[in-house]
This record gives sequence, structure tokens and C-alpha cells, in this order.
Amino acid sequence: MKIILLGPPGAGKGTQAKKIAKEFDIPHISTGDIFRQNLRENTDLGKLAKEYMDKGLLVPDEVTNKIVENRLEKNDCQKGFLLDGYPRNVEQAEELDRFLQGKGIHLDCVLNIEVEKEALIERITGRRVCPNCGATYHIKTFPPTVDNVCDKCGAQLIQRSDDKLESVVKRLEVYESQTKPLIEHYTKKGILVNIDGNKSVEEVFEDIKKVLGDRG
Ligand code: AP5
Ligand code: ZN
Repeated sequence: MKIILLGPPGAGKGTQAKKIAKEFDIPHISTGDIFRQNLRENTDLGKLAKEYMDKGLLVPDEVTNKIVENRLEKNDCQKGFLLDGYPRNVEQAEELDRFLQGKGIHLDCVLNIEVEKEALIERITGRRVCPNCGATYHIKTFPPTVDNVCDKCGAQLIQRSDDKLESVVKRLEVYESQTKPLIEHYTKKGILVNIDGNKSVEEVFEDIKKVLGDRG
């Protein structure tokens, strides 16, 4: 399975991606996670990415494209992959088209997760993440068993620095102007499927499994 997950910030891409990757045994490639991992390790890439992420802007295409292409060339991607948060503008999508075409790889499906705007803000501002293992929680819909403590590794949960309201507003604007046009890009290719992301995590996952089951 070769899949792209599209959707606005907070739509539940990361949440669903983890479940899909496990179910279909394919690598989950999240550009946001790669940047955050680099930030934790204090690499040059991490420092560069933070400047853009905290402002809610996209990291430059030439940096992002290279990272994804290097990752897709690894052996474990031969059986399939799930791209989460990439591509994010038309230029990235066109570069990915060229890259995949050059390798004779065809995408199976682009899942476009749709969620009402008010719910997005509620989801993002209520999100808490584990800085140690990357697990994601929500203070209302998916709280940890003990307040602010990761169930998986016991670390103290934090709020992502780009989840403060002013960054969120910018990220939503960037989504509208730069990422939303990808819906048309992939609709024209006949591989886009809309998923109602307003339902519960499990219901959304059931819908996704049905779509991927029909295509697999
Ligand atoms: P990235 O990490 O990709 O963030 P994003 O796209 O803004 O998406 P989010 O992580 O905010 O949300 P999500 O859809 O994964 O939702 P989640 O599952 O966590 O990118 C961050 C930044 O990195 C960008 O702004 C940019 O600067 C840079 N970047 C990344 N990729 C790039 C690229 N290709 N090019 C250039 N720059 C790039 O869920 C959200 C919350 O809701 C959670 O708390 C969760 O528990 C809860 N939740 C999830 N599903 C449900 C549900 N069904 N019901 C109720 N609650 C739910
Ligand atoms: Zn943890």
C-alpha cells in the first residue's frame, strides 16, 4: 500500500497514521515528526525547521523534498509507505510525482481527512504530546490515565510549541492557501478519497480500513 494522508492541522492525520501503519505493516513517514525529532536532537535541520514551525510556516521545499526522497529510498519502503504531512503544497506534490514516476511507483490512494474548523482548533489546543516517545493525547477526548503523564513511558507531557493559538491560526491559513489545492491535484489523478474525520478515532479508522480494503 502506498498512501498519502491529507488534511488540515489537527484533523487526526498522526492519530490515524499510527493505526494504519500498524494494520498494514508499512512505514509511517511524517515530515512533522522528522523535524521534531531533529529538534530534540538539536541538529542543524532541527534548528532551521523550528524557525518556520513556530511561525506556522512551511519549511522550505528543497529541504523537505530531499528528506522525504532519502527516506523513500530506504528498503523498508519497497513494500509500501504512508506519507503524513507531505506533500503540503503543489510544488512538493509535483516533485513527488516526478520522483515516484522515475522509480515506476504508483500511489494507491490519497486519504483526505475532513474536519470542521471549530473542531480543529479544539483538537489542536487540547493536544498534549510525549517529548520522550512521541505519543499523542488530548485533554478531553483522549486523556492519559494519570494527569499529564505519558501512559507508555511515564514522561511528563507537553504542549507542542506550534500549538499555541497564534501559530495555529497561521497554520490553518497556510493549509487553506497552500495545501488545500492538493485536493484538486489528486482528484484529477482519480486517487483521492474523502474521509469524514468528525467521527470518533475508532469510527474514522473503520472507514479508512474499508476504503483501503477495497483498494488493496
Ligand atoms: P505536522 O506535524 O505535519 O502538523 P499538522 O499537519 O499541522 O498536523 P497536526 O500534527 O497538527 O495534526 P494531525 O492531523 O496529525 O492531528 P493529530 O492526530 O495529532 O507539521 C508541523 C509543522 O512542520 C508544519 O506547520 C510545518 O512548519 C512543518 N512541516 C511538516 N511537514 C511539512 C512539509 N511537507 N513541508 C513543509 N513544512 C512541513 O490529532 C490532533 C488532536 O486531536 C490530538 O490531540 C488527538 O488526540 C485528537 N484527535 C485525533 N483524532 C480525533 C478524533 N477523531 N476525535 C477527537 N479527537 C481526535
Ligand atoms: Zn511517552
